[in-house]
Amino acid sequence: MKVHIIGGGNLGASVAIGIAKFTKDNQVTVTRRNLAPISHLKELGITVTTDNTSNIQEADVIILTIKPYQVDTVLAEILPAISNKVIASAVSGLSIENLQNKIGESHTAVRIMPNIAAQFGASATCIAFNEKNKDKAQQTVALFQGLGTAPIIDEKLMDAATVLAASGTAFALRYIRASMQAGIEIGFDWKTALEISAQTVKGAAEMLLEEKGHPEQLIDRVTTPQGCTIAGLNEMELHGFSSSLIKGIKTSLKQIKG
Ligand SMILES: NC(=O)c1ccc[n+]([C@@H]2O[C@H](COP(=O)([O-])OP(=O)(O)OC[C@H]3O[C@@H](n4cnc5c(N)ncnc54)[C@H](OP(=O)(O)O)[C@@H]3O)[C@@H](O)[C@H]2O)c1
Repeated sequence: MKVHIIGGGNLGASVAIGIAKFTKDNQVTVTRRNLAPISHLKELGITVTTDNTSNIQEADVIILTIKPYQVDTVLAEILPAISNKVIASAVSGLSIENLQNKIGESHTAVRIMPNIAAQFGASATCIAFNEKNKDKAQQTVALFQGLGTAPIIDEKLMDAATVLAASGTAFALRYIRASMQAGIEIGFDWKTALEISAQTVKGAAEMLLEEKGHPEQLIDRVTTPQGCTIAGLNEMELHGFSSSLIKGIKTSLKQIKG
């Protein structure tokens, strides 16, 4: 499969690296105007170019990872060079209907919300498309399944997906930072505290994804009656651990919706 990514910034470069490292038989081209920050991607076999239309007609999927205000300029450049393409957009706030109107009915608009963990094959990429385009969107879904998980969602949940999956990366990192700071207080140097905290989160996430159970079932397995874990958990909840996270996520969503 040939993948053409327009906008090799934080997200575009992460997706390109993820495809090159974690998926098989896919060729990636990634574009941006200033090539210097992504020229090293060539070492992974990724084609980097300033020309948004370079071999674009050969692409099976075109991915837009540009800012909302850059969309019209980019589309004006590429549309004359392509026919019958799937255009998968990660552009925040750009609806399928809006994108479809901009690109015309001969192309297929798909909306994707990956996160930068795509670079490590560990993105949670929510995907939405119109039901009539189910077959045409399949290649994009398969591509992102190779970069982590790729749940298909109702488009009306795309803002919520942005908060849970993209902003969620920052929320999870802040949890790890807090855990690490506590680790230093209880005796570890920061590097060891970070290693332990990050790996513990990874382990907990892997158990959940593998077992597909509810977190409380796993929590029950590590909370001995009268033990230190339940004492710590209850103290955290007393100080608003879960409720502050829930409130933060709802505030982010309010901010997106404006
Ligand atoms: N970062 C995330 O975690 C994340 C997650 C989900 C969705 N998103 C969405 O993805 C989009 C990109 O976000 P980002 O954080 O990756 O932004 P970013 O780092 O600013 O990347 C955008 C890239 O687009 C390039 N660009 C601008 N105009 C261009 C043009 N005419 N032709 C080709 N490339 C062009 C820019 O490079 P040059 O200036 O060198 O051209 C820049 O590297 C946004 O809409 C964002 O909301 C981001």
